Amino acid sequence: MDLWNRVRADAGYRSWAHAPRYPFKMASNTAHGSEVEVFVNAPLAQAIDGKPATAWPEGSIIVKDIYSRRSLSHVAAMEKRGGKWFWAEFDAEGEPIYSGEPAICLDCHRPRQKTGDWLYTVELPR
Ligand code: HEC
Repeated sequence: MDLWNRVRADAGYRSWAHAPRYPFKMASNTAHGSEVEVFVNAPLAQAIDGKPATAWPEGSIIVKDIYSRRSLSHVAAMEKRGGKWFWAEFDAEGEPIYSGEPAICLDCHRPRQKTGDWLYTVELPR
């Protein structure tokens, strides 16, 4: 099953925990949209509260709803596969816009490579 369908399976990613520093829909000042809401799956949530680490575990998924003028415009997701992040962005209907390792995503997240294992919204436990 592809990532879009997997994150929407069962109760769906909106039933997951929020990224701790993003406990609800928050204003965003990036190119990503005017408001964002960030969800983490169980393996990632456990690792956030876990032992010091230099990377997030295999199977971690983090999903960001991106709102523009109060309506959902895009959904961005990252999944740890084979020791690397798989990056994806979808439109509000789930049509893929980016997937794989797009330079546009990596270039902007690179400052967070060491401190967040590429993630902006969560810190690696240390
Ligand atoms: C202009 C810089 C920029 C670009 C380009 C960018 N991001 Fe982000 N991304 C951010 C920032 C900053 C955040 C933190 C949340 C926020 O304010 O939006 C973030 C958050 C995220 C999150 C939530 C997980 C996290 O990092 O904490 C995901 C998932 C994500 N981005 C995926 C992507 C994907 C996929 C792409 C390429 C299609 C992409 N991003 C391109 C800056 C960027």
